[in-house]
Amino acid sequence: MTKIITADNIDEAALCIKNGGTVVFPTETVYGLGADALNDEAVRSIFTAKGRPADNPLIVHIAHIEDVYKLTSFRSEDAKKLMDAFFPGCLTLIMKKSDLVGGVVTAGLDTVAIRMPSNPIAHELIKKSGCFIAAPSANLSGSPSPTVARHVIDDMNGRVDYIIDGGASEVGLESTVVDVSGDVPEILRPGKITYEELKEVVPNIVINKGILKETDKPKSPGMKYKHYAPKADVTVVMGSKENVRKYIESRITDNVGVLTYKGGTYNGAYVINAGDSMEEYANGLFYNLRLFDEHGVNTVYAEFADEGGIGLAVKNRLFKSAGHKTVDADIIK
Ligand code: TXA
Ligand code: MG
Repeated sequence: MTKIITADNIDEAALCIKNGGTVVFPTETVYGLGADALNDEAVRSIFTAKGRPADNPLIVHIAHIEDVYKLTSFRSEDAKKLMDAFFPGCLTLIMKKSDLVGGVVTAGLDTVAIRMPSNPIAHELIKKSGCFIAAPSANLSGSPSPTVARHVIDDMNGRVDYIIDGGASEVGLESTVVDVSGDVPEILRPGKITYEELKEVVPNIVINKGILKETDKPKSPGMKYKHYAPKADVTVVMGSKENVRKYIESRITDNVGVLTYKGGTYNGAYVINAGDSMEEYANGLFYNLRLFDEHGVNTVYAEFADEGGIGLAVKNRLFKSAGHKTVDADIIK
């Protein structure tokens, strides 16, 4: 049975982690499904609860920056600069693992993903458990990451020991993942900490090509799996405001949902406003995708515009949720 608690009862949840159990906890990005990262059996139960393929490694969450030295065997100058600039927060760094880290959490790779969350509940849970906490996003594998406890409960009730309700996630998209295990830092997953911000600290950083298209040889195992998909069929529509509107209007039938950007209504469709900025779009994206499913629509048209910054992360998640089905409304009318 799953116990749903608040941060007032965090001690129970910390003890559960220490004893090899599973706890869903809030972070500033999305909710995470945690267990003791150094206990292989506990880590396996994360994969089981999510239905996650065993070859997709997990992020290890720490409460103290010194812990990086225990979990890794080598830290490049770039890694140190990025830790100084962005830990704690929405950044995950991939580094060469130390012998302390086992093969289940890393899916047999010689690297480990490390993040130090800033969310106070996440921080307390890690600290009080006395463990490093392995945690993927707390959704069933393939579904949008949960950003409120209600969505965690939809996916994980009965599959984990505890769920800590910590309210709505501040960011709404998962952390930026940067591989600093090689010579050149490489963004494997965009997030709130943007390419532009990272480039100020490590000017040689590059963006992995798999971020915006499907690829045969993914650098990060997570890239090859279908992700963030609601049950509805999603199509991303880009182009001038007028052409986007015309295109979507011409496709409205029963059970169509529209995710609008910067306002707008569509008669006969279930419309959700993604917001007036890319920050708002990011914050509500996963939540909104789940709302479409709750409303029972079959098809979703999502308005989108390229704006850089956190827009790259929105684009990455949105394109994946659409299985890369996109329409340029300026060309096809
Ligand atoms: O914001 C977040 O990062 C959330 C919260 C809970 O911290 N966690 C999260 O975990 O999004 P997950 O498992 O859903 O995504 C982790 C991604 C996956 O795409 C995985 O393949 C990649 O990081 N990853 C983990 N370890 C890796 C490694 N050693 N090398 C390359 N990619 C790795
Ligand atoms: Mg995930």
